[in-house]
Amino acid sequence: MEPIVSVEKLRMKFPGDESLIFKDLSLSFDQGEKVLLLGPSGCGKSTLLQVLSGLIPNSIEVPMKTEKLKCPSSWGYVFQDPDSQFCMPFADEEIAFVLENLSVPKEEMKEKIQNHFRKVGLNLGHTSIETLSGGMKQRLAIASVLALEPEVIFLDEPTAMLDPEGTKEIWELLKEVGRDKTVIIVEHKIDHVLEFIERIVLFNDDGQIIADGPRDTILSLYKNEMKEHGIWFPGVWDEYIQKYAPIREHPFTDDSPLMDVKGFRGFRNKEEKIKVEELKVHSGEWIVIRGENGAGRVLYCMP
Ligand SMILES: Nc1ncnc2c1ncn2[C@@H]1O[C@H](COP(=O)(O)OP(=O)(O)OP(=O)(O)O)[C@@H](O)[C@H]1O
Ligand SMILES: [Mg+2]
Repeated sequence: MEPIVSVEKLRMKFPGDESLIFKDLSLSFDQGEKVLLLGPSGCGKSTLLQVLSGLIPNSIEVPMKTEKLKCPSSWGYVFQDPDSQFCMPFADEEIAFVLENLSVPKEEMKEKIQNHFRKVGLNLGHTSIETLSGGMKQRLAIASVLALEPEVIFLDEPTAMLDPEGTKEIWELLKEVGRDKTVIIVEHKIDHVLEFIERIVLFNDDGQIIADGPRDTILSLYKNEMKEHGIWFPGVWDEYIQKYAPIREHPFTDDSPLMDVKGFRGFRNKEEKIKVEELKVHSGEWIVIRGENGAGRVLYCMP
């Protein structure tokens, strides 16, 4: 069977860089495959997705050479940074833009837009994209890709901005809508992705493929390589905490905290978003601030 996406002997270099980002990289994907590309930060995963989709060099000019490149004819792309995704200022217009290109009649537009919003759990109308939280933007980005009804979906960390609940929901949604499609995924938070994919391609820091095969084989045979390159694997935090971060026998004391906050209130558009009665931060502490999308975690970090 002819692969649906493939590249042979890809060589490329970003202008100004000393070394090649890919040196004779070859990779192909069959129709319907669900594949996870895994590798350390900066190894070239996003760049590779852009090459495989044709964004590089058609829309983003980067000098490159291949012996053969087959990009899909119908594809959608969810970017790592949802802000770079949108063409229109309003959420409904963003979907309408896609539907117009597919020649959807005007009278069907409104209902179709609402259907697409509903599919990704958004309740929006003529809403300015600027005002959406990161997670809502990611949902909107997925909705606009689904509206394209593409054969191949490229997902570059589609849940990077989502809270754990949102991440789970988006993967459930992607599993459903991606069932009959070819899906090529880059994702660091792999817990929810694993049940969806059947194949893993593992990269090292230099953008070279160190393993390519069935999911379970890669996870069991290449755990050490994944650890060595700082790649997430199932249960990574449990191991990390056991090894590096045992619970302190002597808890931090109240002497000279680096940060001492009392009665802090954070507002957005005059609405009180967060309220912190008391907080002390001591040198050496590792603190996780958790909360739903839109809960005000950033406000909390920058009072
Ligand atoms: N437009 C660009 N111009 C110059 N260098 C770039 C450009 N885009 C990416 N790079 C460089 O290419 C390398 C690979 O970047 P890329 O974003 O593809 O990595 P990644 O594997 O997706 O990383 P992450 O997991 O952090 O998203 C990095 O060293 C990056 O600095
Ligand atoms: Mg990336």
